[in-house]
Amino acid sequence: MEFKTIIYQKAGHAAVVTVNRPNKLNALDADVIQELDSALDLAEPDKDVAAVIITGAGDKAFVAGADIARIRDLTVITAKDFSERGQALFNRIEKFKKPVIAAVNGYALGGGAELAWACHIRISSRGAIFGQPEVNLGIIPGYGGTQRLARLAGRGIAAELIITGEQIDATRAYELGLVNRVVEQAELIPTAQKMAESIAQRGPIAVRLALQAIDASVQLPQDEGMKIEAQLFALSCGTADQKEGVAAFLEKRKPVWKGA
Ligand code: COA
Repeated sequence: MEFKTIIYQKAGHAAVVTVNRPNKLNALDADVIQELDSALDLAEPDKDVAAVIITGAGDKAFVAGADIARIRDLTVITAKDFSERGQALFNRIEKFKKPVIAAVNGYALGGGAELAWACHIRISSRGAIFGQPEVNLGIIPGYGGTQRLARLAGRGIAAELIITGEQIDATRAYELGLVNRVVEQAELIPTAQKMAESIAQRGPIAVRLALQAIDASVQLPQDEGMKIEAQLFALSCGTADQKEGVAAFLEKRKPVWKGA
């Protein structure tokens, strides 16, 4: 598939998706949103892809936000559509059946931060900058930032970042639990790829069900989440992979997953 605003590459068991508008600091316009969705269409059924890595082109920006030029002309009606389109993509990422890793290589601002929050795991380069600067434009986050940031870091931190619009560096983001790891820029993609290869060694259905159960923890009250966990645990025990995983352990060999 030909893309204009992203690059889709397979490397080992990862699909590496690079937002590629470096002259605009990889800002998200309608084409990027649509092409990221198409990239997920490619990755989802591909048996060779164990995880998706999302990053930005160049050393400066992961994604510096929604395209501000497009925000200028929004009306009350078109703004709602604009917000819902971005939310739909980020919801799809959050609920994606394979792990999605954000490899944050620079500015992750506004919609860029929201994209990172929607991913399952965030790895950051040491020089990356995170922020929700929308209030500087007289608007609020519209791609899920108010909801996901509060759930990720707590209400107080979300309020501070969103209401002050202040930006934080990777070390502070790590202290706040917003990123899993901070590495040197040169190590960013290799670290994400190593993680993807590690995931590729595990039972693919178990990985998928685990993501689903973890998602329930943020969406549902704990008692309801426990019920989902028990159901998904039961489901995992009905798979050929469960038989294989347990047999391989007992026979002291590596499992050969069927994904069934
Ligand atoms: N939307 C559209 N274009 C953007 C953009 C965005 N979110 N962020 C950066 N760009 C464009 C700039 O307009 C500039 O384009 P130009 O060369 O055609 O003028 C280009 O990317 C480079 O950005 P520039 O501002 O010159 O780089 P800088 O190093 O001086 O500053 C930032 C970097 C990230 C601090 C600054 O670009 C910025 O504040 N961006 C907006 C961040 C934001 O508010 N995001 C939330 C949007 S809801």
